Parts: sequence; structure tokens; C-alpha cells
Amino acid sequence: MPSDGTSDAVPAELDPSESPAGMRSAPPHTPDLPDGVDEVRVQRPDELAEVVALADLAFLPEEEGIGALVADLQADPAFSGQSYVAVADGRVVGHTMLTRAWVDTEDRLLTIALLSPLAVHPDWQRRGVGRAVVGYALARAAESGAPGVVLEGDPAYYSRLGFEPAEPWGLQRPSVRIPAPAFQWVRLPAHEPWMRGRVVYPDVFWRHDAVGLRGHRGPGRSLEVTTVTLGARDLPGLVRFYGALLERRVPPDAAMAETDWIGLGDPDGGISVAVQLEPEQERVTWPAGAGAGEQHMQVHLEIRVDDLDRAVEHALACGAELAAHQPQDDVRVCLDPEGHPFCLWVDTG
Ligand SMILES: CC(C)(COP(=O)(O)OP(=O)(O)OC[C@H]1O[C@@H](n2cnc3c(N)ncnc32)[C@H](O)[C@@H]1OP(=O)(O)O)[C@@H](O)C(=O)NCCC(=O)NCCS
Repeated sequence: MPSDGTSDAVPAELDPSESPAGMRSAPPHTPDLPDGVDEVRVQRPDELAEVVALADLAFLPEEEGIGALVADLQADPAFSGQSYVAVADGRVVGHTMLTRAWVDTEDRLLTIALLSPLAVHPDWQRRGVGRAVVGYALARAAESGAPGVVLEGDPAYYSRLGFEPAEPWGLQRPSVRIPAPAFQWVRLPAHEPWMRGRVVYPDVFWRHDAVGLRGHRGPGRSLEVTTVTLGARDLPGLVRFYGALLERRVPPDAAMAETDWIGLGDPDGGISVAVQLEPEQERVTWPAGAGAGEQHMQVHLEIRVDDLDRAVEHALACGAELAAHQPQDDVRVCLDPEGHPFCLWVDTG
């Protein structure tokens, strides 16, 4: 695990040098102050004890140790002062923090901001304090050039503050124990489409076992799509094709001769592709033909690629055919050796 960022040697902020030129969305604004709140600002070092007590007060008894997490985050060498408070009558009534985390992209580790924890004094809840400190933190993160702010939390709450699920944008959860809907982010102006990959939390969160939920298997975890199985008259042939196309380990011929189903697992833990022997299988007609009795496509693989032309070249070299009909510029429809259509698609942002 990285200890102090990577390309980012700038501890004072979330590394403004990482800000790419493209401005893709409007920066969030610091919201108006809620009634009774005098200011929202950067926390002073002498307010740490008050902030720790507030975190414990807000989270207990449901969650223990959040105050200690705040104290350890601020004691960490990577802490760059990004702790924010809402103050009313000289007392801290709301608090949140940004910590430096990373996205393990194809090219390099990229710094991203992680918002955690967020606490509002019980007497001040439902009065806009949470919204105000989060808005303040988002504005500071945007100024620092961070591509986004990730967090794990209740979507019913954070969606009201502009957060959306992060996985559709190509960010992977640092732990499968974070339910997918809870893994959210706000995309900031510095974001670019290539910024995809697994989010890596700093080790303080792991030391506190403060990542995801233990023992809470929600419906999303108890029903998990693991595999797409494709039928084949020639099982070894189609296994070899998908092994080459997707760069997955192909079992020895002897193993394939003895079975009617072979799974090609994804080393990164994604969805497996499997092949099942179907001796009577007929090729599908794609696009759907007018002829009665012709089997049209019922399911197909969508395969995201970085470079469409290179991916097509690779697929053809593996034994695919390019379909005659190509309905979209950013997609190439190919046919595998058994005639199953599959799409290579490139994310154009
Ligand atoms: C969750 C918490 C931070 C919310 O802070 P808050 O100051 O009460 O929130 P706000 O008043 O800014 O609320 C913003 C919006 O969210 C809504 N909201 C507040 N609490 C909510 C909740 N628990 N669930 C869903 N929506 C909620 C508010 O109605 C408001 O909506 P609106 O502006 O669209 O009408 C606060 O209740 C708290 O500290 N809880 C204990 C610690 C905790 O759970 N922290 C979050 C961990 S991920």
C-alpha cells in the first residue's frame, strides 16, 4: 500500500499539479450557512479534541471508535489539514475530513479525495449543517484539482448532496464489503475518462477496520452475477478463443476433453466467461432476420476497450469476424467462432 502518494509529493493539498486541463463539469459552490451557524472553515489544530468528541457523540452507540479514527487520521504524516468544521456560538457542531486516497489507474496511481467521517451534533441535525460542511469540503477538493471525492455511506442521504454511484464511472470499491450503492462520489472538473480503476484507501482506515461493513450481506451480495456461459458445438475451440481474446488462463486439452463446461475466471475478480458444450447449437442471425424459425441473438457480451481499432485487430487475430452491420461509431460488433455476437466498445466520456 502506498504510504505517501506517488507522483504527488505535495502534502499541503490534494496535489493541484494533478489537475488536467479539461473542465467537464461545474465546480461545486460553498453553500449558504444554515441558520445559527457562524462559520464553516478549516479546523484549527487546537479544535482536535472537540472534533474527536463530536465524532464519538454523533456515531455512538451504532459505531464505535470514529473519534479515534479522526485522531489517527490527523496524526498521520499524510494529513494535510483538510479537516472542516461548522461553528455555532464558538462550538463545533459539524465536522468532516478529506483524506488522500488513490485510484489505481492503468497508467499510474492517481490521487483522489476521500470524505470520511461526517458528523453533526445531535442537537444540530436536520438543519443543513451536514450539507454545509460537505459542500465546503467539495469546493476545497475542486480547488485542489482532485478529480473527485469518494465516500461510502447511505445513498438516501448522500444523493441529496450531489453524490452518485461511483462504479458506473469505472471506479472499483476498495472492498467488496462496501455495498455497491454505498460507494459514491462527486465527479469534479478535473476528472477525465481515463481515470478508472480500483480505489485504494490509506492504511489508517484499514488499521481501524473502518472499510465497508462486516456481517451485513445485503441483497446485492447474496445475489451476485458471477458468470456468463456461452454455448458451443466446439467447446475447446471457443474456450481457446475467449482465453486468447480476454487473456485468461485456458485449461489443458485433456481437461477440456473430459467436461462439458469450462469457466474462464477473471483474475481481477470480475465476471467469468464460461463455455458449455451444446452439440446441437445453431448460429444466431444478427441483426435479427425476417425469416421464420431463425434464432436471433438473445444475450451478448459487452467488452470495454481502450482503443477500438487495436481491440478489433486483436479480436480478428484471435479468430473473430467483424459483423457486416455496424450500428454505432464507438462500438464494433464482432462474431466469435460459434457466431455469438459480442461488442467491443470504447468509453467516449
Ligand atoms: C447523517 C448526518 C451527517 C446528517 O447531517 P445533517 O446536518 O442532519 O444533514 P442535513 O441537515 O445537512 O441534511 C441534508 C439533507 O439530507 C436529509 N437528511 C438528513 N439526514 C438524513 C438521513 N439520515 N437519511 C436521509 N436523508 C437525510 C435532510 O432532510 C436534507 O434534505 P433536503 O435538504 O433535501 O431537505 C447526521 O445525522 C449525523 O451526524 N449522523 C450520525 C453520524 C453519521 O451517520 N454520519 C454519516 C456516516 S456515512
